[in-house]
Amino acid sequence: MPAGTSLVMAEGLSQEDPKLQVEAARKAFEQEFERFASFADNSEVLSTLDLNRAEAEQRALTDLRTRHLGKKSALAASKKLIGRVAPGERAAFGQLVQQNDAEITGKIEQAEQFLRTYLEFARSEREAIDVTLPGRRPRRGHLHPITVGRERIEDIFVSLGYAIEDGREIETDFYNFDALNIPDNHPARASQDTFYTSEGFALRSQTSTVQIHAMQRRGAPLRMIAPGRVFRRDTPDPTHNPMFFQVEGLCVDRGISMAHLKGTVAEFLRRMFGAQTVTRFRPSYFPFTEPSAEFDFSCFKCGGTGCRICKNSGWIELGGSGMVHPNVLRGVGVDPDEFSGFAFGLGIDRMVALTYGLDDIRLLFENDVRFLEQFD
Ligand code: DAH
Repeated sequence: MPAGTSLVMAEGLSQEDPKLQVEAARKAFEQEFERFASFADNSEVLSTLDLNRAEAEQRALTDLRTRHLGKKSALAASKKLIGRVAPGERAAFGQLVQQNDAEITGKIEQAEQFLRTYLEFARSEREAIDVTLPGRRPRRGHLHPITVGRERIEDIFVSLGYAIEDGREIETDFYNFDALNIPDNHPARASQDTFYTSEGFALRSQTSTVQIHAMQRRGAPLRMIAPGRVFRRDTPDPTHNPMFFQVEGLCVDRGISMAHLKGTVAEFLRRMFGAQTVTRFRPSYFPFTEPSAEFDFSCFKCGGTGCRICKNSGWIELGGSGMVHPNVLRGVGVDPDEFSGFAFGLGIDRMVALTYGLDDIRLLFENDVRFLEQFD
C-alpha cells in the first residue's frame, strides 16, 4: 500500500485513515523513546549512568511500554481496526500494524535489556566487599578507675591470705551502728548520717557492717576484706559525694596485736605505692576499736618533701584502724579473752583520686565517657 493512501473502511464507517493513525502512534513513540535510544547501543551513556538514575530510567521505560504497547495504547486501538478495514487492504494494514508493533517492542526490549544488565552490574558492584580495606575497630570498653583500684587492693590482700566478703548495701541500724558499739544517741551516729527507708532500713554509712556479718557467719579466727559502696547524707563537693567506696579489713585470731595491724597496713601500702612508702599511725577514736589510729603514708609523688598532692605536708591521710573493741567481739559471740583482732577502713575513691591527681572526686561518679576514656 503506497504511503498516504487512505483506507476504505468496510461497513462504510467514516473512519479517519487508520494508516495515518498507525504512523502517528509510531511518531509519538519515536519522540518519547529518543531519550532511551542510547540505551540500545551501549554507547558512552554508561559514563553518565549511576544506580539511581538507571533505576529511574527503568521505571520510565516501563511506563513508556504501557503507554505505547498497552491495552489503551494507540497501537492497540489500530489492531482493533484491522478487522474493519476493507478486505482488500486488510492484509497490508495488518502487516503494517504488526511491523510497527514488532519494531516498537524490539526497541523497548533492547533498552530494557541494556538497563537490566547495567543494574545487575551496578548492584553487584555496590554490594561487593573490598577485603583489602582495613577493618573497623570495635569500640571496646574498659574497667572504671575505681574498679581498677579495688582489684589492685583485692589482689594485695588475697596474696596476704585475706578472703573477700561481699556485704549488703541496705542495712538495719543494728549492723550499721549498735553492733559496732555505737548505741542510740551516740554522737558518732550524727557524723555518719545516711539515707533511711520508710521501713526502718538504712543505706550503710560504712563497710564496717561487714565485720559483723562475717564474724556472725564464720566466727573466729578470720581474715577478710570487704570492698563496697557506702552512703552518707553529704552535700556533694570536690571531696564529698553521698555515695562512695570503702574497703574494710578485719583480722581476728589468737594473739593479734597492734604490731600486726601496723605491719599489715604498711605492707599493703608498700605494695600499692612502692617499696619506699613509709606509713605513720596517729592516735584517733572510733567506737568499734580500742585503741584506734588513723594512718597516713608518705606522699607517692614527692616522697615526703611536700607537693600539691599531699598539700605540702609530705603525708597523705588514708584511713582509720584499731584493735577490735571487746564489745564488738562479744556481740558476735567471739570471746575477747581468747581472741583479739584489728580492723581498718579506707576510701577507695579517695585513693584513686589521689593516684590520678584528680581534684574533684565527683568526676569518678558522673560517668562522663570523655573523662573515663582517659583510663583505658
Ligand atoms: N568505718 C570508719 C569510717 O567509715 C573507718 C574505719 C575506722 C574502719 C576504723 C575500721 C576501723 O575498721 O577500725 O569512717
